[in-house]
Amino acid sequence: MTLKISEKYLGSFISKHEYDYIQPLVSESHRHLTNRTGAGADMLGWKDLPENYDKEEFARILTASEKIRKSCDVFLVLGIGGSYLGARAVIEFIKSPLYNLLPKENTPEIYFSGCNISATNYEELLTLCENKDVCINVISKSGTTTETAVAFRIFREMLVKKYGEEGARERIFVTTDKEKGTLKEFATAKGYETFVVPDDVGGRFSVLTAVGLLPIAVAGIDIGKMMEGAAAARLAYTDEDLMKNDCYKYAAIRNILYRKGRVTEILVGYEPYMAMMNEWWKQLYGESEGKDQKGIFPASVIFSTDLHSLGQYIQDGLRNQFETVISVKDSGSKMPIPYDPANVDGLNFLSGMDLNEVNSTAMKGTLLAHIDGGVPNILIELEDRREYSLGYLIYFFELACAMSGYLLAVNPFDQPGVEAYKKNMFALLGKPGYEEMRGALEARLKE
Ligand code: PA5
Repeated sequence: MTLKISEKYLGSFISKHEYDYIQPLVSESHRHLTNRTGAGADMLGWKDLPENYDKEEFARILTASEKIRKSCDVFLVLGIGGSYLGARAVIEFIKSPLYNLLPKENTPEIYFSGCNISATNYEELLTLCENKDVCINVISKSGTTTETAVAFRIFREMLVKKYGEEGARERIFVTTDKEKGTLKEFATAKGYETFVVPDDVGGRFSVLTAVGLLPIAVAGIDIGKMMEGAAAARLAYTDEDLMKNDCYKYAAIRNILYRKGRVTEILVGYEPYMAMMNEWWKQLYGESEGKDQKGIFPASVIFSTDLHSLGQYIQDGLRNQFETVISVKDSGSKMPIPYDPANVDGLNFLSGMDLNEVNSTAMKGTLLAHIDGGVPNILIELEDRREYSLGYLIYFFELACAMSGYLLAVNPFDQPGVEAYKKNMFALLGKPGYEEMRGALEARLKE
């Protein structure tokens, strides 16, 4: 089985009848998801994507990824939020967080930018691009996101200086709306190759569209296998009965725990390569559920690293959280602990043991300790870290997120709160049209 959810470490936090009580809500939400009658129903394109994706565009993604691999040392991916997290998470999960430093088979270094407003970061990236061949993929569904647009200005200017307008055209790839928006208009005017963010797929649900697939393919990852895994998950999670549907069971457990005051969920990984998956998951759940003054706060840790930082709080602090632990059965590496005849550190009782075993024992010990400390744990076991399994896991989390949103009675597919900071920033920066707001904000800052 590719993915298995275990309730073994929930201890006595949930009783059988609580599943029975929540089942009618799960069934109703399932009907809304299936019949497209719930809130945000026009944004359910991601649901059938693993089967109904644009095959012609998929082939173009493969061709473009090949061209990019052949023509650059550095590939810059410009985007923010859902327009970058998925690709970065997949590359780090399947390849490595050290991908850029490790030996590669004809794939470029990949850097993500356009996801901050840091002058330092841009300066460093420009330095890094000196004397290197560079390609860019700018990704923005709206085509107007400031962070991404600023990055595109900076790096496009660099490309034009290096290669001229003609040369730059061959190195710029744009992923945006199929027909509208400033970025689309600009790309058409300049003749850049474009890829589409489908209308009915929101940013945080877009990793299996060109948004994620082009950068992922450039890294040499088999995107066909990822789609196969996602398609298998789509078929596996069709039963409305939560006792027969692990994906809905995960959403139901979250909701039951939330109603008991468990308002923080900590996603736990035991491998550094999972850190960016945690970030992707946090955005998916935070932006989907956190609205109308409701929602589970998504947090994350990497153990055992964070057992030496947040571990104390989880074991002993305020009892308002639960953990969801992802255990990858086969990480694909082995590392036996060496024998030391002097045994100065007293570790010879471990010599010859594979580090994976030590890691998995740390996980078991921690699960038991945290339950004893009053923290319920959901355990998700994933077969391996290959493309098929990750595609499966991505779909699992997306569907569970949609179900969770409906159980919470929010629209999981909008993000009205993201606009607030943007309006203030535009007003304070003096964007035309925001003059009135600017005065009021400046007065508040002077108070
Ligand atoms: O999930 C979302 O919708 C957001 O996080 C967006 O992806 C993010 O704000 C970037 O938007 P855009 O792709 O329009 O630049």
